[in-house]
Amino acid sequence: MADMADKLNRPLLDAGGVAEGDRVLDLASGAGEPALSAARRVGSRGLVVGSDLVPGMMAGAVRRAAALEGEAPVFTAADMTALPFADGSFDRVTCRFGVMFVPDIAGALAELRRVLRPGGTAALMVWGRRDGNALFEVVGGAVEALLGDDGSMAPLFRFAEPGSLTGLMREGGWSAVAESDLTPVRKVPAGQPFWQATLDMVCGHRLHGLPEDRRAGIEAEITRRFAGRAGDGMIPLPAHVRIVVGTR
Ligand SMILES: C[S@@+](CC[C@H](N)C(=O)[O-])C[C@H]1O[C@@H](n2cnc3c(N)ncnc32)[C@H](O)[C@@H]1O
Repeated sequence: MADMADKLNRPLLDAGGVAEGDRVLDLASGAGEPALSAARRVGSRGLVVGSDLVPGMMAGAVRRAAALEGEAPVFTAADMTALPFADGSFDRVTCRFGVMFVPDIAGALAELRRVLRPGGTAALMVWGRRDGNALFEVVGGAVEALLGDDGSMAPLFRFAEPGSLTGLMREGGWSAVAESDLTPVRKVPAGQPFWQATLDMVCGHRLHGLPEDRRAGIEAEITRRFAGRAGDGMIPLPAHVRIVVGTR
């Protein structure tokens, strides 16, 4: 995702109105985005708190923040359904690819709203349609073709239906709720295992303990499916994402 970072983070921070001097809470920061990008934007007069349910997920983010010369976020553990912050502590809340993993989404949205000051905004990025996301579509499709569909991909696309997350925000009392879609396209050289991290991250639990020949068969099927999408030695990887914003 690293080379897609700016194509995703800039529109997300723009949509949330993140500006110099803001106090920003980034939820489910994982490897650190968009917290790291937000810290550059808010500058020394602002503050960015990056957070994640699983502290270990932020190890890379903490390392990257420590290596920065300019402004850096602070990172702390936080469950977005029970945030350890006072009411109205932040001007902006951001979350990139996190809210779809929270079973109690209404509880999470209420917590996001609580920690925002009146007039503060949340900007949430979720995955759009699976067939608009080449990595998920090809990797997931190959695994499901050979091992069957165990439903484990579905949560990623929980808010892929237009209006699904905005509807929940309106029910939760948010105002100025809106959504916008974007589909940045990354191009990668054909013949490389650029899909390996996606396979491990999204389907790793299914490959664990699988005989080597079956795993090799899945990898060959992924390679074959991507080869069918190549042109001029490059494979386009569109990523359909949705940005949902709301104001407290
Ligand atoms: C796909 S990662 C997204 C990481 C990063 N924001 C990015 O876009 O690369 C999803 C993250 O959500 C976190 N997460 C899941 N449930 C959570 C919750 N209830 N509260 C906070 N974080 C949660 C996971 O630990 C994981 O790090």
